[in-house]
Amino acid sequence: MQVMSCEMNCFIVTLLCFCQTGEQLGTTPNLKGIVFGRCYDYMTLNPGTRFDCESIWLHFKAAVLRQPSCNVTVEDYHEMFQLMTQNWPCHTSLFWSKTRPLMHSYSAVLPHLWTLEDTLVGYVFNDLIWCRQHVDTDFDFSACPEWSSCQNHPVYSLWVLASQNFAETACGNITVLLNGSISAAFSRMSMFGSVELDNLSPQRVHYVNIHVVASLTGPQIESCNQGSVVDLIQILQTRGFRWTCTDNDQMLMMLQCFQNQDSCRATNLKSVLFTQLN
Ligand SMILES: *[C@@H]1O[C@H](CO)[C@@H](O)[C@H](O)[C@H]1NC(C)=O
Ligand SMILES: *[C@@H]1O[C@H](CO)[C@@H](O)[C@H](O)[C@H]1NC(C)=O
Ligand SMILES: *[C@@H]1O[C@H](CO)[C@@H](O)[C@H](O)[C@H]1NC(C)=O
Repeated sequence: MQVMSCEMNCFIVTLLCFCQTGEQLGTTPNLKGIVFGRCYDYMTLNPGTRFDCESIWLHFKAAVLRQPSCNVTVEDYHEMFQLMTQNWPCHTSLFWSKTRPLMHSYSAVLPHLWTLEDTLVGYVFNDLIWCRQHVDTDFDFSACPEWSSCQNHPVYSLWVLASQNFAETACGNITVLLNGSISAAFSRMSMFGSVELDNLSPQRVHYVNIHVVASLTGPQIESCNQGSVVDLIQILQTRGFRWTCTDNDQMLMMLQCFQNQDSCRATNLKSVLFTQLN
């Protein structure tokens, strides 16, 4: 788990939405209020769930402030994660890589699907940044270290453990959404390729159903039988998973159409769908 290549950094930077500026932002202002607010919000949105938000915050704070910023390991978060344990039904886990907007529309129309962002830990910490000051044991609100300069970045370690747990819990049929318009739809540097894939269990997972989806306006660079997706299928087969793979699934293409009317007009998707429906 020592991978900290540029691609992984870019992934996390994108995840945190400050890619364009490249600035080293500090801890998110009002971090405590946000964590508490989201934690209570989560229980309201998911009736029947009960979590000790106060205790979660205290364990989080202890994990982050105990060590220098670049030394917060996955293990440091174990106690906090024990307070956030969850189970969800089989056949609902959705994994994705470089398809975030599409993943959001997909899980909006199929609300039974579970992504990492639907788990308590994903919901609470989504898009937040945190780190400790060098000398004082308080959060550093002015700047946090670069991902690449850190062996164990506090934000990175939390997402590794969250992704690991998310994959370990997955059962039944799972769905993987990959981007067919880029040259490494499946990458060993992505969270899916570096953490989640290795933590899926062939005993628990019945089928890995892969969807390779190109953007409406193209290009179509990878597909189920071309490029890195072939490597993924090879890995799945070696590990004894059953799998299916679909290129440009009709519903996923239609969802992109709703997202972006212009690119929809630019393609002849309507006529394609019309032909298929007849
Ligand atoms: C990093 O953490 C390890 C394990 O907790 C500890 O032994 C080590 O001294 C820490 N390094 C620094 C620079 O604080
Ligand atoms: C694929 O990746 C490109 C480049 O990041 C992005 O613009 C596009 O929206 C993605 N396509 C899908 C279907 O997610
Ligand atoms: C699981 O996936 C397989 C292959 O796509 C399919 O035949 C089966 O009906 C699916 N089962 C459920 C419960 O979705």
